[in-house]
Amino acid sequence: MTLLPTPPTPDPRERVVVTDVALRDGLQNQPQHVATAGKAALLRALAAAGVQSVEATSFVSPKAVPQMADATAVMAEALALAPLRASALAPNLKGLERAVAAGTREVAVVLSCTETMNRRNINMSLAEATRISAETLRAARAQGLMTRGYLAVAFECPFEGPTLPERVLELGLALLAAGADEIVVADTIGAAGPAQVRRLLGTLVPHLPVDRLGLHLHDTRGMGVANAYAGLELGVRRFDGSAGGLGGCPFAPGASGNVATEDLVLMLEQSGFATGISLPALAIAVDLASGLLGRPLGGHCMPWLRRQLGGSPAAALREART
Ligand code: COA
Ligand code: ZN
Repeated sequence: MTLLPTPPTPDPRERVVVTDVALRDGLQNQPQHVATAGKAALLRALAAAGVQSVEATSFVSPKAVPQMADATAVMAEALALAPLRASALAPNLKGLERAVAAGTREVAVVLSCTETMNRRNINMSLAEATRISAETLRAARAQGLMTRGYLAVAFECPFEGPTLPERVLELGLALLAAGADEIVVADTIGAAGPAQVRRLLGTLVPHLPVDRLGLHLHDTRGMGVANAYAGLELGVRRFDGSAGGLGGCPFAPGASGNVATEDLVLMLEQSGFATGISLPALAIAVDLASGLLGRPLGGHCMPWLRRQLGGSPAAALREART
């Protein structure tokens, strides 16, 4: 069973990389503890759905984010699912050291674009955070790791208001110079609309290679997919999503869930791009995440998707496989 046209082999459609961040951005803000076994089950469900890249966890202070205290064990589970690509957040050299010890091959740093957001998130000034992020990226590259540099609150900061695109460009270039393989522009509080995405990318793309740019969007105002489409039109081919739309930064007031991976995948596939992700199997991962958190989850397309699957994604998939 497939809800999307079966592509001919080899698939001539252009590929888009979707990184699922439910395990990190999704879970870090949840008040209830999710056991490592539950996280491992969600990783397996995402991999089974064809997700090729995940952000599995973060090597941050367990005092700051208790949900990520099991980072080493979660990374071991993710690595067992190779060729799944599993990245982890490592905000400083200590985080990098823990990540490397856990076998991580891909790390991300988060640099917020404003003074106040850096203070709230990682207890550093913007200058300090820029220096520490660059130092962490350089050390990661020296050890042969792949690196992603997140630029948080790139559109709007909950404390300082709209972010100047020129500031984002300056910080993006600093991270690129420090060795980031990919720069991920993050709408941490979901404040942007397509016009803001066009404006920011219009400033960045002439200076930052678009094939190394990613978009990390939140769906606070219901514009996540529209924003992704605006990015797509401007050449971006890497997007973060979170299964079920889970997500939010504990240190950014007003941040709600990430754009749901299922909404992104449906939009991308319907727009003629290949994600390699099966929507029916992704729906099972969404149901699993709902079970782990004890509340219903799901992007805008989930009611429609459920109807197509006769109400039960798991039963529909079992039936299709027999
Ligand atoms: N992993 C685990 N522990 C870490 C760590 C890391 N990456 N970096 C620092 N620590 C520990 C220190 O060893 C120290 O431990 P101690 O209290 O037992 O001595 C403690 O954390 C404080 O360290 P310090 O260097 O003074 O940092 P801080 O208190 O200013 O905190 C961060 C800085 C970055 C570690 C902390 O703010 C953090 O982890 N924030 C989480 C950010 C996050 O995940 N945000 C959401 C995603 S964007
Ligand atoms: Zn986020």
